[in-house]
Amino acid sequence: MLLDRDPIICVFLASVVVCAMAQHAPPWTEDCRKSTYPPSGPTYRGPVPWYTINLDLPPYKRWQELMIDKGSSLKVIVKSMTDMANAFVPSGKLMEMVDHKLHDLLGKLPAPYEEEMKGIAAVTDIPLGEIISFNIFYELFTICTSVIAEDKKGHLLHGRNMDFGIFLGWNINNNTWIVTEELKPLTVNLDFQRSNKTVFKASSFAGYVGMLTGFKPGLFSLTLNERFSLNGGYIGVLEWMLGKKDAMWIGFITRLVLENGTSYEEAKSILTKTKILAPAYFILGGNSSGEGCVITRDRKQSLDVYELEADQGRWYVVQTNYDRWKNTLFLDDRRTPTKMCLNRTTQENISFETMYDVLSTKPVLNKLTVFTTLMDVKKGRLETYLRDCPDPCIGW
Ligand SMILES: *[C@@H]1O[C@H](CO)[C@@H](O)[C@H](O)[C@H]1NC(C)=O
Ligand SMILES: *[C@@H]1O[C@H](CO)[C@@H](O)[C@H](O)[C@H]1NC(C)=O
Ligand SMILES: *[C@@H]1O[C@H](CO)[C@@H](O)[C@H](O)[C@H]1NC(C)=O
Ligand SMILES: *[C@@H]1O[C@H](CO)[C@@H](O)[C@H](O)[C@H]1NC(C)=O
Ligand SMILES: *[C@@H]1O[C@H](CO)[C@@H](O)[C@H](O)[C@H]1NC(C)=O
Ligand SMILES: *[C@@H]1O[C@H](CO)[C@@H](O)[C@H](O)[C@H]1NC(C)=O
Repeated sequence: MLLDRDPIICVFLASVVVCAMAQHAPPWTEDCRKSTYPPSGPTYRGPVPWYTINLDLPPYKRWQELMIDKGSSLKVIVKSMTDMANAFVPSGKLMEMVDHKLHDLLGKLPAPYEEEMKGIAAVTDIPLGEIISFNIFYELFTICTSVIAEDKKGHLLHGRNMDFGIFLGWNINNNTWIVTEELKPLTVNLDFQRSNKTVFKASSFAGYVGMLTGFKPGLFSLTLNERFSLNGGYIGVLEWMLGKKDAMWIGFITRLVLENGTSYEEAKSILTKTKILAPAYFILGGNSSGEGCVITRDRKQSLDVYELEADQGRWYVVQTNYDRWKNTLFLDDRRTPTKMCLNRTTQENISFETMYDVLSTKPVLNKLTVFTTLMDVKKGRLETYLRDCPDPCIGW
């Protein structure tokens, strides 16, 4: 099971101070939380601002208003990534390559992303290569928990914790992940509009043009979780550089489906069939009973589509970062506590309130958790809350 993860993760895990068994024992786990909603207290960092992205504007100009506000926060995180790259390759050659060669190496990125990233680079005055790297990063390092649940009336709810920032440095002053903390001020809710009408809504990080969490009011909701595999995203990126450009970036396919998809069934078909650059899990919910599934993807094909079947007692689907037919990494079992807390909640009582309780229970909530999102397709609701996980709390 360890082999499924990259060797670098094993090295990393071995070097982390937290004891291996900690995740299975208090104080790093806790009884299912209750009455945490509306969010307050030490695990709630604060609200997330809304911005409108006008799709009628040319791609180069769309992100301007947002990036004027968030440019300085983006610079902070890009600097952390640069410092890390320079720590690996002290000559500075790696960053020199990123700044001057990455764009050529990758070749032209598909529309509208190329122009959007150029626009972001221009407004923030950050080199295009670094904006592109920032965008590639999410293809490789998102560790998350996603849940779709159906209540007794056949009404669907979709929740997710966005966990991000592993590997990228630990702040020993206050026991936090550096990048996880730096992402909090970049977290935004986006209302993508055409002709002044909402096309879809999403929760994302300013500077990122793909989408990992979002929904189309009335139609469907979608989240993306990272899937680790030896035949992973690195190979896909390499193939892309070598000229094999028939696969889609995963954050881009999710954006495409949210922006131009017209139904749950169509979204499911695209997410199942399109060749993608990195393995992934797509968690897709629809607008009516039974429409919820987890699609486990290889780069070339779908390995499994696991669907809700409330009449068979399967009233929720849960996805973390492991194939459902395999054990989780023993150091990182967020799946069992998520299911256990959903079981305790019962289908009668599932709601935004109780979904937030589940996503607030350690280790489902952990030091990598940047935000928690709750979506209700039918009611057109999307709520995102910034999170903290004060000590004692596990690192992931
Ligand atoms: C930890 O310290 C960093 C750097 O000073 C700060 O940005 C971050 O907000 C702190 N996080 C918490 C949870 O206190
Ligand atoms: C959108 O609304 C603004 C302000 O209400 C208006 O000026 C603009 O013409 C509208 N745009 C479209 C494409 O309808
Ligand atoms: C959605 O479709 C429009 C019209 O065909 C196209 O211009 C746009 O680039 C598409 N969006 C994405 C994210 O591919
Ligand atoms: C649910 O989605 C389908 C397309 O998948 C659409 O035809 C239907 O109108 C939607 N229902 C509601 C109530 O919006
Ligand atoms: C949750 O309930 C299902 C159905 O009763 C059961 O199969 C599963 O083992 C339970 N999971 C946990 C973690 O309690
Ligand atoms: C469901 O919610 C009701 C009302 O809040 C509560 O009385 C009941 O105990 C809950 N059931 C479970 C299984 O938690």
